[in-house]
Amino acid sequence: MHREEILRLLRSSATGYLSGAELGSRLRVSRTAVWKHIKLLERDGYVIEAVPSKGYRLTFSPDVLRISDVLQGLSTQIIGRAIRYDAEVVSTNVLAMGMAQRGAVEGTVIVAEQQTGGKGRLGRNWISPKGNLYFSIILRPAMPSHRAPLVTLMGAVAVVAAIRRTADISAGIKWPNDILVAGKKVGGILTEMSAEPDRIKQLVLGIGVNVNMDPGGFPPDVGKLSTTLAVESGAQVNRTRLLRDLLRHLDQWYLRFLMNEGAVLDAWRSLNVTLGHQVTVSTGGEVIEGLATDIDRDGRLIVSPPGGSQRTVSAGDVTILKR
Ligand code: BTN
Repeated sequence: MHREEILRLLRSSATGYLSGAELGSRLRVSRTAVWKHIKLLERDGYVIEAVPSKGYRLTFSPDVLRISDVLQGLSTQIIGRAIRYDAEVVSTNVLAMGMAQRGAVEGTVIVAEQQTGGKGRLGRNWISPKGNLYFSIILRPAMPSHRAPLVTLMGAVAVVAAIRRTADISAGIKWPNDILVAGKKVGGILTEMSAEPDRIKQLVLGIGVNVNMDPGGFPPDVGKLSTTLAVESGAQVNRTRLLRDLLRHLDQWYLRFLMNEGAVLDAWRSLNVTLGHQVTVSTGGEVIEGLATDIDRDGRLIVSPPGGSQRTVSAGDVTILKR
């Protein structure tokens, strides 16, 4: 608690410096106690310069997710009303669904540094070592359950917008919600819900982004098709800033979505890398090949096989064919 406050005060100091006495009086602790907290921060990888007669100055922060910093300056309306952070969980989606069922407020975000049983789409695992972002958001949009895929598309639009802005990387969306950079997967979204046919009760939007992990940590089959933001940008990405920007974009897009679903579909179309390409789609044991022409108003993919009649697909794996 004191350490987070010290970091916050040092970051907001106009000159960059704060003396031990000033820090002590703000925290109502002795200068010796301040010094002890500074040593603990240095042990965690922070570099704090101590200049006689000026005080302490923070010169380097390690790649640690600081939730207090994520919250600082986060002026969202729904997403981030409550945030829970864990060093390790089985799956943030599992945790979030349990919390949602026990009445957690809409917009609650569950973040974890790593997952031991991260869940991917179609029953797959999601590799979840330290260094990336794993989080789930509890939402309760007032709509029938067949419209839930639109929330996933909304999530993909927001994630791509945030990556483009924060990491300055040209990411795109492969239907339905794979986040790609340079043709490789850098993030994914898993939406889970409990619903009655006419109404979504709880929806959990789970987002995983490969940020700074060692790419050698991917299993070989996943590694061929995956990348990280650090690899693509050539530098470590500040996860705290990225998470704050992701939550901000998610909030903006969720509010927009509640007012005008069409805006999300249009944004998805403009950021996608699927439409207009020849694709194969594996869906329920069947493989459909054809031109991906559009998505319908429920976010389903429309494929036109050569000489065949148009097909509409609600779930599956797309491979973009390079001709
Ligand atoms: C996909 O297969 O593309 C979806 C991957 C979704 C992974 C995220 S990580 C945070 C959240 N918790 C999970 O267990 N899965 C999602």
